[in-house]
Amino acid sequence: MYPLIAPSILAADFANLQRDIEMLNGSEADFIHVDIMDGVFVPNISFGIPVTEAIARHATKPLDVHLMIVQPEKYLTAFRKAGADSLTVHVEATEHLSETLKEIRSLGAKAGVAINPESPITLLKEVVLEVDLICVMSVNPGFGGQKFMETSYAKVSELKELLLRKGSKARIEVDGGISNQQASSLIQAGADILVAGSYIFKAKDPVACIADLKRMK
Ligand code: DX5
Ligand code: ZN
Repeated sequence: MYPLIAPSILAADFANLQRDIEMLNGSEADFIHVDIMDGVFVPNISFGIPVTEAIARHATKPLDVHLMIVQPEKYLTAFRKAGADSLTVHVEATEHLSETLKEIRSLGAKAGVAINPESPITLLKEVVLEVDLICVMSVNPGFGGQKFMETSYAKVSELKELLLRKGSKARIEVDGGISNQQASSLIQAGADILVAGSYIFKAKDPVACIADLKRMK
């Protein structure tokens, strides 16, 4: 099965965002992954609602918004209005996960939940039928360009088994440190969506790089 590719705009040149978004529009990317960091849930600040709005104005691909923020429930409406097609919250960041996911769907967006490397898959047991997307973090969130954690393969397999057992159709996304080196093993373990930031934006030809990733199996 071929993967869906979600380039992370965090690795773009922010002074040339429109140019980089247009490059992605003309590529085989399936989504644009938008990383929101608040400096509290993660030790870094990226950008927020106005920049997401600006991205949405130029993007022709759906925006996959990854909220690495505490109390994400406060900002769901704002990010949806800004143009998010899917909204992913961290299982570690919200006390009322189920309610939050319901709210995302009620806003007409796809509901996602992300899980940090050190959090066990069992935390997701109760919500697998309430989500469209589960994002397995393969780095500690906060920065692009980190090293892929090898423990992620087993985590993806474990999640895939859980989804099959529960009859969930949620897509499995993997995020952090991904290049063509990890793609095949991740797809074989059950990944549907691969997020890649630095690997794509540092490539000499990002459009060709995306096309190559898209053909991995
Ligand atoms: C990490 C972010 C990732 C990151 C991916 O906190 O959630 O989406 O931008 O970038 P690379 O591929 O460079 O690890
Ligand atoms: Zn991300």
